[in-house]
Amino acid sequence: MAASLGPLVGAIDQGTSSTRFLVFNAETAELLSHHQVEIKQEFPREGWVEQDPKEILNSVYECVERTCEKMKELNIDIANIRAIGVTNQRETTVVWDKTTGEPLYNAIVWLDLRTQSTVERLLKRIPGKNKTFSKFKTGLPLSTYFSAVKLRWLLDNVEEIRKAVEDGRAMFGTIDSWLIWSLTGGTNGGIHCTDVTNASRTMLFNIHSLEWDPDLCKFFDIPMEILPNVRSSSEIYGLMESGALTGVPISGCLGDQHAALVGQMCFQDGQAKNTYGTGCFLLCNTGQKSVFSEHGLITTIAYKMGKDKPAFYALEGSVAIAGAVVRWLRDNLGIAKTSQEVEKLAAEVGTSYGCYFVPAFSGLYAPYWEPSARGIICGLTQFTNKNHIAFAALEAVCFQTREILDAMNKDCGIPLSQLQVDGGMTNNKILMQLQSDILCIPVVKPSMPETTALGAAMAAGAAEGVEVWSLNPGDLTAVTCERFEPQINPEESEYRYARWKKAVMKSMGWES
Ligand code: G3P
Repeated sequence: MAASLGPLVGAIDQGTSSTRFLVFNAETAELLSHHQVEIKQEFPREGWVEQDPKEILNSVYECVERTCEKMKELNIDIANIRAIGVTNQRETTVVWDKTTGEPLYNAIVWLDLRTQSTVERLLKRIPGKNKTFSKFKTGLPLSTYFSAVKLRWLLDNVEEIRKAVEDGRAMFGTIDSWLIWSLTGGTNGGIHCTDVTNASRTMLFNIHSLEWDPDLCKFFDIPMEILPNVRSSSEIYGLMESGALTGVPISGCLGDQHAALVGQMCFQDGQAKNTYGTGCFLLCNTGQKSVFSEHGLITTIAYKMGKDKPAFYALEGSVAIAGAVVRWLRDNLGIAKTSQEVEKLAAEVGTSYGCYFVPAFSGLYAPYWEPSARGIICGLTQFTNKNHIAFAALEAVCFQTREILDAMNKDCGIPLSQLQVDGGMTNNKILMQLQSDILCIPVVKPSMPETTALGAAMAAGAAEGVEVWSLNPGDLTAVTCERFEPQINPEESEYRYARWKKAVMKSMGWES
């Protein structure tokens, strides 16, 4: 007979590199079982990054089914799964046909740079070519990163999409919308919705009124009827329509970085976390007040935990390339067969030997917002080898975080005294030590690294009609922490950081 553990909550974590389904014990937040599938990225032209929405959807089905099988093997009753949360790579843009359920083009991934000319064309229509023209409405600068310009590109360049819009058959969504619509029935009554956190990454959403903004839709020339309904991050959107979890409510939805903020229990004003995935994203909760940056950060919705609950806001520093630089060394340069091997190469030397690597593959995001930047490796000598380059790549992740932290400290006035971290790369102890050395503050890592999934599960479990989670951090006993203290002197750290800044300046303007 299957063991009864009390209520369980599942989370679909659909990231840029992989999809996962994870199941947590609602009483302790303990991770009971999970399954992961890697997702392909296609690079059809220089700067273009696409993914197949069908592959993404199938990976979700596979992860759910495999996790349920593993749970049965562990003698855990899947009937106890009371709710499912969805968390996802943000901004990635999908348009599909609601009558066939088929995507009308590949998903344009958040990192994609094809919209650079779209951005330039739009900028010409703004007085003073002011990139931050909608800062106080959307919290965002005009950039290739956000969904509105990707959607504009699709409408301008894909005939089938233009036709489907004319015929009233097109639906737009970020990955959360595509998944929730498909999982709740698709052509058979699927729910077309998104949550406020994902909507806040489109550049079509007013983060104060919490509605799609007609003026911005007009500016980008986006038909409002193709947009999903915007809901809170914690409410029942619909029920799973097929598979082992048929009938279980999907009741949590947050962009992955926002979910990590929740999973790290950053519910208080001034609490922050940094997540190392494909990119790297530092979010600081600013409470119910939206704070606007003077130093290149963006303002985003942190979460809204229920229909009648208030929205909380966050300041965010977005770095496009973090784990992706390790993947690039592995796949493009072939200096190692696995990501772990890249880390081993770095660990063997413990220094970049004066080599600096700015991985501006998709331009530079915060705090520069410079699409014309391109990656550079500099400071090379005859002595430099692949180990030093691997170390410089890891160091680049830490320097980029330092830039964000500096901007965050300036905007908030009170410097962060330690940094809470999570994400796949935090398993790398060398990287975590290096991060603490470069920031000159302690870095704190939870023992349970799946905080993104935990955040989505918490939102799902707290929804009205589910209510297995109170969102009281004290209830969650599974999360303990590991600390990394700075081990080099601040002068050494400043010297290396100053050299990094010099390298960043060299990477700018390459494509202009
Ligand atoms: O904004 C993009 C971000 O959500 C992607 O996250 O974890 O795939 O690097 P990740």
